Amino acid sequence: MKLKIAVFISGRGSNLENIIHSIKNNELKNVEIVCVFSNKSNAYGLEIAKSQNIPTIVLENKNFIHQEREIYEKEIIKPISSFSPDLICLAGFMRVLTNYFISQFPKKIINIHPSLLPSFKGLNGQKQAFDYGVKIAGCTTHYVAPEIDSGEIIAQACVTTENCQDEKELTKKILKAEHYLYIYTLKKIINELNLDDLKEKAYKEKILIY
Ligand code: GRF
Repeated sequence: MKLKIAVFISGRGSNLENIIHSIKNNELKNVEIVCVFSNKSNAYGLEIAKSQNIPTIVLENKNFIHQEREIYEKEIIKPISSFSPDLICLAGFMRVLTNYFISQFPKKIINIHPSLLPSFKGLNGQKQAFDYGVKIAGCTTHYVAPEIDSGEIIAQACVTTENCQDEKELTKKILKAEHYLYIYTLKKIINELNLDDLKEKAYKEKILIY
């Protein structure tokens, strides 16, 4: 049986695109994207999903500005649940979910954050790491808990900051690591036994995953 995932995005969608690519080339044989949700109607990732005939759901949170966050979330839960996802994958989803939403999908929501948690939580993890002057940076996948960028860590990928002249160069390096890490994470969740090939492939690009 395939793991049915709903991917939540807010923008570019390169992680989404990479998951789609990995499903297509059989790297992720046992995963199926059942829908893509975005809180921004202009998210480019929606175009990527549509081009692959993946159902999309959009609900602009800006239309709910004067209402409780739970009211907005209730509106999302309904359409998402109709796809019965086994897992909700936040991939560049830039909205904090409340305890209400999280409790509807216990241990079924994961996120990718562009820093080695618990360092550099919140926005612009890559810039925070660059400005701090760390020598090793990276990204983390974790289960989503009510406190921002917390929750049990699933996996991490690290890169060096060597030769990164600015925050943009580091961000690019981390994004490459994110793409490997998301696939690794999904494989780990579905208990795929052979993770070494992927780890080695990443390692050749100086990305260490564990
Ligand atoms: C990634 O860096 C992710 O870690 C962060 O937002 C970015 C999304 O990139 N939360 P994309 O939309 O997957 O290209």
